[in-house]
Amino acid sequence: MTNTAIIGLQWGDEGKGKIVDFLAHNFDAVVRFQGGNNAGHTIKVAGNTYKLSLLPSGIISNKLCVIGSGVVLDPVALFNEIYNLTKVGIEISNKNLLIASNCTLILSVHRTLDQLLEEQKGQNKIGTTHRGIGPAYEDRAGRRAVLISDLFCPQTTLERVKNLVFYHNLLRASLKAKLITTEEILQELQPIKEKLLQFAKPSFEIAQILVNKKVLFEGAQGALLDVSYGTYPFVTSSNTMAGQITLGSCLGLNSVNKTLGVIKAYTTRVGSGPFPSELNNEIGEFLRQEGFEFGTVTGRNRRCGWFDVALIKQAIQLSAVSEVALTKLDVLDKLATIKVAVGYKIAGEHYNYLPQNPNLWSKIEPIYQEFEGWQQSTKGITTFSNLPPKAKHYISSLEKLCNIKVSLISTGPNRNETIIC
Ligand code: IMP
Repeated sequence: MTNTAIIGLQWGDEGKGKIVDFLAHNFDAVVRFQGGNNAGHTIKVAGNTYKLSLLPSGIISNKLCVIGSGVVLDPVALFNEIYNLTKVGIEISNKNLLIASNCTLILSVHRTLDQLLEEQKGQNKIGTTHRGIGPAYEDRAGRRAVLISDLFCPQTTLERVKNLVFYHNLLRASLKAKLITTEEILQELQPIKEKLLQFAKPSFEIAQILVNKKVLFEGAQGALLDVSYGTYPFVTSSNTMAGQITLGSCLGLNSVNKTLGVIKAYTTRVGSGPFPSELNNEIGEFLRQEGFEFGTVTGRNRRCGWFDVALIKQAIQLSAVSEVALTKLDVLDKLATIKVAVGYKIAGEHYNYLPQNPNLWSKIEPIYQEFEGWQQSTKGITTFSNLPPKAKHYISSLEKLCNIKVSLISTGPNRNETIIC
């Protein structure tokens, strides 16, 4: 298989982890290229459930895993995750995990600031994961972040930390929060320094290692949460689209041969922001319960709604997606009618895309196409021909409406509950 990118095409939680795990055996390496431990990937294999936030999902099948330079890395979260996996027999060392040494560190100041800023926004909050993702990316762009490579030299560490503390104290003072000291942050770094450095490698060395390997790129979050193209400002702070691979994976422009988008058979989102096909009713609740739509990272209820063609088409276009994997088809099994939003009416006007103007968001009326439900179980089906005819019709209609080929279908959370089309 050629180098492949796996990208979520909705607001995250499309089931990318399962798809990465399913495909990983075809590849030599799995690379994360953006985001941090705001991501939550659940993987089920042979009766075991693994929950990952920061480690690439290929770690479960002992592939070479790389955390690329575009990731913001919380060392506390990383070592908790490694500890939890080690307890269930997954060995992690610098033989199967490499981290780009120019990764930005998420420290306690970032987690605190994320929380303080959300509290200060009140009703207008983004609904972040409080993992410090936004503040860490801001510090990276503001040229005051502490990078993993800084930890190699005590003098550089001291200078970077002083700079960071100076800036964060300006914000903390204006937010009436307790000020921090350089010493506190240095103490925070002390116990993790050696442990972290054993995994660290310069990006160009990682590039040399990856260049002749078959690589699977694992996206986190989804296209609609992209900081440039998503439903701004209700987005994450990184670029979640395939283009980010060229800047965050240690590999360059020609390294991606195929982009596989992941879409759920309906839509969910966590946090605030527009969601035209949201169902604040018993069907939304049904999808939440049936699809177990509770955040892997924060445990929050996910908002649920119908599949939205307009949004998916935007995401396919912007990420140059060539095929899609459709997940959680089985969640729809019991429904008598299934709807799909194919466009919107806003103040009398017809739209086939989501306008960026926030003042229009509350006025959106989705235009729905209805499908008869198949009302029989698709759980665990592994061949397309065994799907109920009405389920096949739903899938082929999504293909036509989105103008994309569905090449994988997930019919349950386990690795083997998958149809290759
Ligand atoms: P942040 O990434 O923690 O700053 O959160 C910004 C927005 O992205 C919030 O609405 C989060 O709920 C959402 N978000 C971040 N990561 C994920 C994810 O992995 N799945 C779904 N939503 C996410």
